[in-house]
Amino acid sequence: MRKNIVAGNWKMNNNATQTKALINDLKVALEKVSANCRVLISPTSINLTSAVAATKGSVIEVSAQNMHQATSGAYTGEISANMLQDVGVKTVILGHSERRTFFGEDDTMLTEKVTTALENNLEIIFCFGELLEDRKSDNHFNVVESQLKNVVLALNASAWKNIVLAYEPVWAIGTGETASPEQAQEMHAFIRGLVEATYGKTLANNVSILYGGSVKPANAQEIFSKQDVDGGLIGGASLNATDFTGIITAF
Ligand code: PGA
Repeated sequence: MRKNIVAGNWKMNNNATQTKALINDLKVALEKVSANCRVLISPTSINLTSAVAATKGSVIEVSAQNMHQATSGAYTGEISANMLQDVGVKTVILGHSERRTFFGEDDTMLTEKVTTALENNLEIIFCFGELLEDRKSDNHFNVVESQLKNVVLALNASAWKNIVLAYEPVWAIGTGETASPEQAQEMHAFIRGLVEATYGKTLANNVSILYGGSVKPANAQEIFSKQDVDGGLIGGASLNATDFTGIITAF
């Protein structure tokens, strides 16, 4: 059966000192509660090694925010899948809307990244979601379907044990505006239906589908209570141990 997951995406926040402090706060907070879900944090790449060390022995897993599609070579400033594995990182976020918008990541590049990540035994949190104009023009289902079909729905079924989906409507990211629990459920059911149509019911029931976009302690429980919502990818609220723990305990 699929797992519930709460994953924090720290984006370009927290230097080394702040990373250590936030992990410490989080460990203390999590000791007082029982987490009924997987818990991940995604510090910036320069702090991954120290984050892996600091979370050792705790329930917190560490994921990366990005990686390059090539295995190695002349790609100044980039980080490879093998480098992530080597420092103990087992999961990578790919396809985040900020990567798509600011760094030109398209379906072709994401297919390469997904392939490389899988070849290196990394779990992938694959992000996708429509723009506000897509939703306003009632095109959101088409956009999501093509984002999935062009990349992850083209994979072999065996790859899916390492795939987590994260539906993140771009209009809800960092805006304070959240999809309503009904809007999230409607889209998540649609997504699970696409996976089922391609791979069958068992695989579709086993894939975790996270919602992302202004999830806070105050709205997490209602969103997570929906049948096809298996957790969240959390930006802003993951930068505060109390808020992040409040979201984790929504399960
Ligand atoms: P947010 O970000 O929670 O700050 O809206 C979510 C994300 O970008 O993953």
